[in-house]
Amino acid sequence: MLKRLHVALVYNLKKDGSDEASSEDSDPNKPRTRGNAQVAASKLQQTTADTYAEWDTEETILAVRTALEQYHSVTLIEANEEAYARLRAARPDIVFNIAEGLHGPSREAQIPAMLEMLGIPYTGSDPLTLGICLDKSRAKEILSYHGVSTPAFIVIEPSASLPPAFPLPAIVKPLHEGSSKGITNASIVRTEEEFHAQVRHVHATYRQPALVEEYLPGREFTVAVMGNNGDVRTLPIVEIRFDSLPDGVNHIYSYEAKWVWDNLEHPIDVHECPARIDQDLERRIRETCLSAYAILNCRDWCRIDIRLDGNGEPHIIELNPLPGILPNPEEHSCFPQAARAAGVDYDTMINGVLDAALKRYGIARP
Ligand SMILES: Nc1ncnc2c1ncn2[C@@H]1O[C@H](COP(=O)(O)OP(=O)(O)O)[C@@H](O)[C@H]1O
Ligand SMILES: [Mg+2]
Repeated sequence: MLKRLHVALVYNLKKDGSDEASSEDSDPNKPRTRGNAQVAASKLQQTTADTYAEWDTEETILAVRTALEQYHSVTLIEANEEAYARLRAARPDIVFNIAEGLHGPSREAQIPAMLEMLGIPYTGSDPLTLGICLDKSRAKEILSYHGVSTPAFIVIEPSASLPPAFPLPAIVKPLHEGSSKGITNASIVRTEEEFHAQVRHVHATYRQPALVEEYLPGREFTVAVMGNNGDVRTLPIVEIRFDSLPDGVNHIYSYEAKWVWDNLEHPIDVHECPARIDQDLERRIRETCLSAYAILNCRDWCRIDIRLDGNGEPHIIELNPLPGILPNPEEHSCFPQAARAAGVDYDTMINGVLDAALKRYGIARP
């Protein structure tokens, strides 16, 4: 029988206020987190309710481990300041990377950069792609250069005295966040006053430039993409439906919509998968996503957000090369939901990502 591969699962565990409990826990196989990483993260921006929204829950980390353990031996390694030494000592055959990194606009690139230095294969995109996609304006510049549609935008540095003029309505977002951090109902601005206030809010709260984008009024979709080169496929398209949001709120997939209004006690499923769209729109959405995936050199997997303009034309909002993968179907995580709609269960989806990486590196799967 072929030897099982040694896979290291590298992660950041979401802070839940129980740091002490988890560092006293003696089970080495449980994901753990150290307070210092979070202190480091919070030094660079104020700690807000959404500070750790991108990091993974213990449930997600354990679900990925369980999936990988069907075929491989798995070691858990937290993506903290000790990760480099631990990876060098562990020398896994491959890393399954779900680490969001500690802090800064290049945080998602931190673990992949260490792995490149150590010559250890890993799943997902390389440091350059992860860095570019987290800086939404850089990603948009590259897409525009290649003729892929993305909403008109400007970037406003915290040092700017007054925001330049920009057609309203617009959306104001932090330049390099994910998981709808900093995107609330107030992010859609219709007056100069709201515009200036929201830009100031992003600067003050997130200590980073504000990305101001043309507001696209049309339908919204998100597309899970898997694979590489000649073997890239899109999973069934997810529509984000805003009809179940509270009355009177803006039709955006805001922080409140992702994490507050939709919760396990009062679930609202804003996702419809497969999306009810005609073949022509489906083709245009898929083609736009596959172009963006190729142009930004995404590898193995990515989830791409799309929105239609007033003429029904699809535009790229952003690419998520480290997509959210909450395992509980009741938590409505888009990537696993799209996989389920394709008849692919959670464990098969995770192993599909690993297999795409193994194939890319020419590593034989046991
Ligand atoms: N230009 C835009 N026009 C309309 N809605 C937008 C636009 N950009 C973002 N949104 C809304 O805000 C949500 C979050 O924005 P996004 O850039 O995807 O941030 P995140 O990285 O936090 O997911 C989107 O899912 C969409 O509903
Ligand atoms: Mg998004």
